[in-house]
Amino acid sequence: MPVPTTETPARPGTTAGAAVFTATGLTKTYRMGEVEVHALRGVDLALYPGEFVVLLGPSGSGKSTLLNILGGLDVPTSGTVAYCDHRLDGADGDALTLFRREHVGFVFQFYNLLPSLTALENVALVTEIADDPMPPADALARVGLAERLHHFPAQLSGGEQQRVAIARAIAKQPDVLLCDEPTGALDSTTGIRVLEALEAVNRELGTLTVVITHNADIARMATRVMALADGRIVRDEANPARVAASELHW
Ligand SMILES: Nc1ncnc2c1ncn2[C@@H]1O[C@H](COP(=O)(O)OP(=O)(O)OP(=O)(O)O)[C@@H](O)[C@H]1O
Ligand SMILES: [Mg+2]
Repeated sequence: MPVPTTETPARPGTTAGAAVFTATGLTKTYRMGEVEVHALRGVDLALYPGEFVVLLGPSGSGKSTLLNILGGLDVPTSGTVAYCDHRLDGADGDALTLFRREHVGFVFQFYNLLPSLTALENVALVTEIADDPMPPADALARVGLAERLHHFPAQLSGGEQQRVAIARAIAKQPDVLLCDEPTGALDSTTGIRVLEALEAVNRELGTLTVVITHNADIARMATRVMALADGRIVRDEANPARVAASELHW
């Protein structure tokens, strides 16, 4: 399928390169009986390799809806969305499954680890079906869990479990990592450890990373900060004064 022909929105603070994600005029309307909910009301964006994007916005502003459409978990009502030159709008379920499997790592607020498997086995579950995975132990070492390979989820803290989930997401070497409130269930010290793991993955593997959060302090570690309000992008700017995750506090 062709790439969207509409002009690519400019990248904040830099000149253009090949975008990983491009969206134009993206809308999402949920129909609940008689009621229509306009979750996205016309979103244009371009996200580039290696960016660390923090996506802010009030509850109900459309953040998860946007992330789910970028990740191929949902489809827009109208508008275009593409991953590189691969159109996601209008793609069928099989094509989206393949797209997710090959290119996308997800991290959610709740870790969804299998309780009967060790950390290593939880990660191996994904690498077994991936094309070019890194060894599960390497993925766990990258998030600081080299000493926890054989622990079961119940034997790990919340932050450690979330880092297993990140290891699972990165082990298949995805091109993009989409994180929906990855620190939402964690205290600040633990949350910062998780953000350090995401920061290391972004820096060392160059993975385009998008992090949804309600915590504006986390925006300080982003290369780019975006915000949604009522289904529209109301802020999109580079963050030249980026700080390390270890410098954050809340
Ligand atoms: N599957 C669905 N069916 C119907 N309405 C939905 C569905 N998913 C989301 N919505 C509605 O769409 C709007 C945007 O939801 P979304 O989950 O994207 O918000 P959000 O910014 O992620 O909020 P939060 O910060 O609370 O997670 C909300 O009004 C929500 O109620
Ligand atoms: Mg949400």
